[in-house]
Amino acid sequence: MKGIILAGGRATRLRPLTKITSKQLLPVYNKPMIYYPIETLIRSGIKDILIIIAPEYAGHFLNLLGSGKEFGVRFTYEIQEEPRGLADAFIVGEHFIGNDNVTMILGDNIFDEDFSSIVQNFQGGGHVFAKEVHDPQRYGVIEFDKDNNVISIVEKPEQPQSNFAMVGLYILDNRASQFAKNVQPSARGEIEIPDVINQYLEKEELKVSTIKGIWEDAGTFDSLLRVNNYWAEKAKRNTEG
Ligand code: DAU
Repeated sequence: MKGIILAGGRATRLRPLTKITSKQLLPVYNKPMIYYPIETLIRSGIKDILIIIAPEYAGHFLNLLGSGKEFGVRFTYEIQEEPRGLADAFIVGEHFIGNDNVTMILGDNIFDEDFSSIVQNFQGGGHVFAKEVHDPQRYGVIEFDKDNNVISIVEKPEQPQSNFAMVGLYILDNRASQFAKNVQPSARGEIEIPDVINQYLEKEELKVSTIKGIWEDAGTFDSLLRVNNYWAEKAKRNTEG
């Protein structure tokens, strides 16, 4: 299993915080945001990680993270010249993925959840994760029945078909790159991740699990503040306890 962290994009929603740096380098309590997805992948047992970054701040990521030796893993870097959409991670990462399976995580998605048993036992197809939220129209929305059979996935629907967001961690086999190349850009000009995942669904090769732990997309001022507070509180509890 290989890992990809998608850490490009322009993060215009977080201006002026992101005027002179990348969102994924902003602090979340005591470390840069990107440490959290890195640690999520490492905790899942993944040791070979591709970090996809925008050209503007590529040097900053390299200075910060280096070869991965400090983390006991190997980092590879690729530049995404333009933010063409999340599905582009599988095209930019095609060579890196090769014949392996891949876990792709978004660089601004922060989890307090252990994915290791699902990652380690993954056999093929696709496996995605759902979390109940009060504002599903902000996310990719996933609908599934009581036996966790996926019914539909729609990116930011005006009329959400469920209250479950599809979170930004996707475990896929290596057809992901081929499937991403089949996707046409959406109205906002991006190749969207649900259009890749739906190709696994059409083949009845998609699984979904719900997340019990904490998950935040740290892409807004409020969610960024929430994750900072969460990890500060957790650190305090750990030193007190
Ligand atoms: O957070 C979960 C949600 O993330 C999912 O529920 C949605 O299905 C998914 O589309 C995504 O929605 P966002 O609106 O949050 O995506 P955003 O454009 O903020 O991009 C997510 C991360 O990926 C962010 O850290 C920037 C990076 N990115 C984004 C694009 C479009 C890239 O590195 N390259 C890109 O081309």
